[in-house]
Amino acid sequence: MTNGLEDVIAAETQLSDVDGEAGRLIIRGVSLDHLVADGTYEGVAVLLLDGLMERSFDEAELRGWLAKARTGVFDHIKAADAALLALPPVDAMRALIARLPDGEDFDTALSLLAAPAVFLPAVLRMQRGKKPIAPDASLPQAADILRMLTGKLPSREQTAALDAYLVTISDHGLNASTFASRVIASTQAGLTSSVLAALSALKGPLHGGAPGPVLDMLDAIGTAENAYPWLGEALDRGERLMGFGHRIYRVRDPRADALKGALKPLISTGQVNRARSALAEAVEAAALSILKARKPNRPLDVNVEFYTALLLEALGFPRQAFTGVFAIGRTVGWLAHAREQALDDRLIRPRSVYIGPLPAAA
Ligand code: ACO
Repeated sequence: MTNGLEDVIAAETQLSDVDGEAGRLIIRGVSLDHLVADGTYEGVAVLLLDGLMERSFDEAELRGWLAKARTGVFDHIKAADAALLALPPVDAMRALIARLPDGEDFDTALSLLAAPAVFLPAVLRMQRGKKPIAPDASLPQAADILRMLTGKLPSREQTAALDAYLVTISDHGLNASTFASRVIASTQAGLTSSVLAALSALKGPLHGGAPGPVLDMLDAIGTAENAYPWLGEALDRGERLMGFGHRIYRVRDPRADALKGALKPLISTGQVNRARSALAEAVEAAALSILKARKPNRPLDVNVEFYTALLLEALGFPRQAFTGVFAIGRTVGWLAHAREQALDDRLIRPRSVYIGPLPAAA
């Protein structure tokens, strides 16, 4: 037994497979690189939810229903009072999601897919003293998220970059938040409860909370020349380098390259700060070399969070909101796993080994 449940198989799934040795991610039979090329959020949502809800649907139908669901959940923004807006964005978003009914049906799933996409931009604007922007039902989800954030219609490259991000992080095996979602689903609590539990697991810095700290690290390093000494000193202090290492991958996280690819059109059209991307490349190279030297027995490579940080910054999201954007994309994976688990109809109930004191003999 290990405390982190490494190598323990806790579910059978048809949803995704993470091959940590080969650096490969498959979602419902399709490899990530194929999925990301021209993929959309709605497309991957259809793929993941296919056969798990009480009705089947195609991408165009889902786009229309999701757009309506965004308008439906916007009303909950009224509940965002001063106390809620004082919370970090992901916590404020979680508090608003907690207001949704806790069903098992397709309408509940639609509201849960729409809610983070609407709540996060609204919370971010209100925290800056601005009015929230209502959804536009004529837009696909990625474009509408950016419009609700900035008030402007995004460029084609920006929409494609956010779509690529949302597709890339839509599902990833039995990670901590997905496991949380399945545990809750196995108790037959509703889908809203599953999503809330998963979101609470996601926000930790060892899971989905890392991309903000990646930017903090880049800011602290400042220049390419400073990368090697700065990283060395951080490791001397026993710190972990944010955006590197993974429980499953022993090679490069394939999602990192998917996101690096998604950044390229933004870079070539001047929609990214070039100095920032040059610094990131220098830091990545220095980190890989220093980690190889310092941890020769543990292959450590770049993970999804490193390029997530650059991509979301380029799209105008503040770093405190990155975990919330992760949740916008991952909710569909959480829902698909929750449904798969609920259909399996078996309570998840592992055992522990008691290592505490025994009662004194009478
Ligand atoms: N920087 C420096 N050393 C590291 C790092 C890192 N990022 N990651 C692991 N190590 C080292 C550990 O210090 C340990 O060294 P030791 O054996 O000399 O003590 C060795 O590698 C093994 O570490 P574990 O804790 O067993 O690795 P684990 O599988 O638990 O780590 C984790 C996975 C938590 C992601 C880790 O790599 C980490 O903390 N990374 C930084 C945070 C991060 O980027 N998180 C996002 C992950 S991606 C996602 O969840 C979406």
